[in-house]
Amino acid sequence: MSKTSVLSFLLCILLCFISQQCMFTSAAQGSWALLQENIGIAAMHMQLLNNDRVIMFDRTDFGPPNLSLPNGNCRNDPNDRTLKVDCTAHSIEYNVLSNTFRALTVQTDVWCSSGAVMANGMPNGLAAARWYASDHILPDGRMIIVGGRRQFNYEFYPKNTAPGLFSLPFSSETNDRGVENNLYPFVHLNVDGNVFIFANNRAILLDYVNKVVVKTYPMIPGAEARSYPSTGSSVLLPLKNIQAPNVHAEVLICGGGANGSYTQSLKKKFLPALETCARINITDPNPRWVMETMPLRRVMGDMILLPDGSVLIINGAASAGLVRDGRVLVAGSNPHAYYNFTGVLYPTELRLEAFSPEYLNPTFDNIRPTIVAPVNQGILYYGQKQKVRFSCPGPVIQNQVEVALVAPPFVTHSFSQNQRLLVLGNNRIIVLRNNYYDVEATMPPSPILAPSGFYLMYMIHQGIPSQGIWINLKGH
Ligand SMILES: *[C@@H]1O[C@H](CO)[C@@H](O)[C@H](O)[C@H]1NC(C)=O
Ligand SMILES: *[C@@H]1O[C@H](CO)[C@@H](O)[C@H](O)[C@H]1NC(C)=O
Ligand SMILES: *[C@@H]1O[C@H](CO)[C@@H](O)[C@H](O)[C@H]1NC(C)=O
Ligand SMILES: *[C@@H]1O[C@H](CO)[C@@H](O)[C@H](O)[C@H]1NC(C)=O
Repeated sequence: MSKTSVLSFLLCILLCFISQQCMFTSAAQGSWALLQENIGIAAMHMQLLNNDRVIMFDRTDFGPPNLSLPNGNCRNDPNDRTLKVDCTAHSIEYNVLSNTFRALTVQTDVWCSSGAVMANGMPNGLAAARWYASDHILPDGRMIIVGGRRQFNYEFYPKNTAPGLFSLPFSSETNDRGVENNLYPFVHLNVDGNVFIFANNRAILLDYVNKVVVKTYPMIPGAEARSYPSTGSSVLLPLKNIQAPNVHAEVLICGGGANGSYTQSLKKKFLPALETCARINITDPNPRWVMETMPLRRVMGDMILLPDGSVLIINGAASAGLVRDGRVLVAGSNPHAYYNFTGVLYPTELRLEAFSPEYLNPTFDNIRPTIVAPVNQGILYYGQKQKVRFSCPGPVIQNQVEVALVAPPFVTHSFSQNQRLLVLGNNRIIVLRNNYYDVEATMPPSPILAPSGFYLMYMIHQGIPSQGIWINLKGH
């Protein structure tokens, strides 16, 4: 099988939420472009930064990738199982605007770690030796790191108390059936300030301030595991009416492995992936899962919140991340224990591709808005009313304009940590001259709804998003 046929494996579907007009539609109207034939590594994690560069990491113990460390640097690690002396790079910085990349000198193994960009824009790695943990930025600016292999606890970064480890029995309870179906838990910051944690087939709501579980959600019907290694995916759906006193928060989980998939796969028996999605209103007093069936079975899908409020599900063991212009980058896929480029059915994937959702099609250029103000990288404060000026070549339909903020996530292993989309309330449009318009949007009221840091701001008109601009959301 050629490399091209691996590509066609990357099928996508869309779930629409803002428009409420469709549930599942094929994303076949979008298009693919090859950005780089060879970025040298198989990107396992991706993080978009506010300078429009994407940091991509791979593990370091897989043998040599196809890229050298800069300036003749080498790394000595007598414990590495393949490369005791390693002069290759396992991470890159990709420049979205110029479509170029450079090797980074990251000298530790970030395999199966988690990460986040702190409010000051710095990417930070792990606080402790954990594999397969998830993290989330908190309203106070710290990061919570949850679970991981044989870590039945959580901690904070940076730490402000010793010893800093807090027990989480839920994490060991979901490590049942002799299989660790509790890895890379799906962690979402709820709108009440508590942290929603899903592992295996269950979820809890954790009050991390008082260190108590305040709610236990029902099990997903069917009792099959959804988190890693069963590898379904999850998003917190777009938050709307965020100025209202009671904001609703709904979580969507799709795919996963049939009961026993992982144990069976070790015996080379492969069970079909799950074809169901489950949705739950995590803010409801009596929350219930609602089940839906996807057009395809999937495992290791990535779920990406798109600026128009739809969720893109990309199949196929890669990592995918939204960039400012609305495209989705897709890279990395390695079905082997090493970098195997020849003589195998599915070679290690070194290509970097971009998926352009249908909204980028030039046929929509006449209704596509362009944000003129605020300026890129501008500072905005909680609750601030901000005039957003935009232009649009064609007529503007007044009640079909939305302003949205998207938090750039850390994309790994089918779960995008810190992914968040908020639809801002906005008032009536003021028509200026020459196809220019003003609309006043109100920033999120508090860091509970949107932890401070960099967000992409999009204007959406008739379902077609503008290019994003970076804004830096801060407290006074
Ligand atoms: C990358 O692959 C190319 C083509 O196979 C090869 O010529 C080059 O030496 C490789 N570079 C590294 C650093 O492995
Ligand atoms: C899943 O498999 C385990 C062991 O193979 C079994 O004990 C359990 O009942 C199964 N659960 C479901 C919901 O089928
Ligand atoms: C969540 O609540 C909204 C608003 O009440 C409703 O439209 C939606 O169907 C609910 N979803 C679930 C999964 O119950
Ligand atoms: C992949 O590469 C490794 C190391 O070079 C080698 O030992 C292994 O046999 C290769 N696997 C396959 C399936 O070719």
